[in-house]
Amino acid sequence: MTTTRDLRNREEPFTMLTAYDAPTAALVDEAGIDVILVGDSMGNAVLGYDSTLPVTMDEVASRTAAVSRAVDDALVVADMPFLSFGVDEAESVRNAGRLLKEAGADAVKIESGRHTVEMTERMTDIGIPVMAHLGLTPQHVNRLGGYARQGTDRDAAEEIVELAGAHERAGAFALVLEHVPANLAGAVTEALDMPTIGIGAGPDCDGQVLVFNDAVGLGDWSPPFAKQFGDVRSEMQSALAEYQAAVEGGEFPASEHSHVEAELDDLY
Ligand code: KIV
Repeated sequence: MTTTRDLRNREEPFTMLTAYDAPTAALVDEAGIDVILVGDSMGNAVLGYDSTLPVTMDEVASRTAAVSRAVDDALVVADMPFLSFGVDEAESVRNAGRLLKEAGADAVKIESGRHTVEMTERMTDIGIPVMAHLGLTPQHVNRLGGYARQGTDRDAAEEIVELAGAHERAGAFALVLEHVPANLAGAVTEALDMPTIGIGAGPDCDGQVLVFNDAVGLGDWSPPFAKQFGDVRSEMQSALAEYQAAVEGGEFPASEHSHVEAELDDLY
């Protein structure tokens, strides 16, 4: 069982992937991936939304429970969806606690900013491990005006360095850095004791994360910084075409897929 402490002590780069259902989580876990993130990227990846903003606590809780039931070894981190935190402290803590208590997550991830420093400290004090997330935070798409790279000028880069330190001091156990310059991610990683996990943040983070659909080539689009390590979409397309042709051509189901009960013969 991977723990937050294991990640901190890791010498070599570690891996995180998203998963949103039990069969995928079992595959990811069996592959030896260290951390499974039940990301709010489920909004785009599996729920058919245009962004992560509509994703609800119930959706994350249900998906996290499915993933937790399927996983033996990986650390399961549940993403806190838009407006499930930050409006009211007590509600934020209760929502985070629900993801551990009811859904079986080991930790939560929070898209971070100035407003999440105290919250991170409170949750950590209570016993809820928090993974922070800086750089491109997709829940802020409307404020940011899109999904552009972040931390590209000195002021913005300094703010990321400062917020990273503030979240470490508040007790966060790890930090996701999304879509920031590689040299900035390297400098943040150097400055922190807690591990950094990069996505579109270059090779110098302590770990790397990708959205499952991007990593295996399931979606019809993936961001420029993601590498597709497979072509699962083509595999699925060819399986579907074969199934359809076999049914339409009368080859499926064959005798080995059917069962004839002798006793029923005199029914007709
Ligand atoms: O929701 C998600 O999948 C994420 C990762 C991209 C880090 O936040």
